[in-house]
Amino acid sequence: MNNIVLIGFMCSGKTTIGRLLANELDYSFIDTDYWISKETDLTIDEIFASKGEEYFRKLETETVKNFSNNLKNTVLSTGGGLSVREVNIPYLKEIGQVVYLQVSKDTVLDRLNPNVVRPLLEQDNQAERIEELLKIRRPIYEAVADIIIDTDNKSVEAVTREVRQSLS
Ligand code: S3P
Repeated sequence: MNNIVLIGFMCSGKTTIGRLLANELDYSFIDTDYWISKETDLTIDEIFASKGEEYFRKLETETVKNFSNNLKNTVLSTGGGLSVREVNIPYLKEIGQVVYLQVSKDTVLDRLNPNVVRPLLEQDNQAERIEELLKIRRPIYEAVADIIIDTDNKSVEAVTREVRQSLS
């Protein structure tokens, strides 16, 4: 098993760093949100809007369960809520080394792209919502991770280098 699993909050850079990391290591790259979108032929916000969050969470679990015994030389980037669901944790651990990309509330706010719909942040006070979610999720991300990398004020290349250096 030599896969790498990237976990962390929205805007921590999981997809961008995952893609670069996979490229550098000559690994395959899979993003769970992208995978689920392709499988359902719906965007993530369409799934949330038409079927609800719980349905999306079930799809996430099915996805990592299916991946848990058949990925090889792959970087798997996960949606921000996937790794905080207890049911998914054994699957992630089975897939590979779990790397938590840490991000602060201010960096999330800086990096948020107004053109991308994020169903969990669609409300007036985004800062408060991010803080609230981070408070709940931070300890879980930390407990699940084998490796923790801070991404605040760092370039994509610098974070990718740190991830590579920390892999055993
Ligand atoms: C979510 C994060 C999103 C996506 C969905 C729910 C979350 O993925 O899976 O909107 O619960 O944090 P990213 O972390 O890639 O933005």
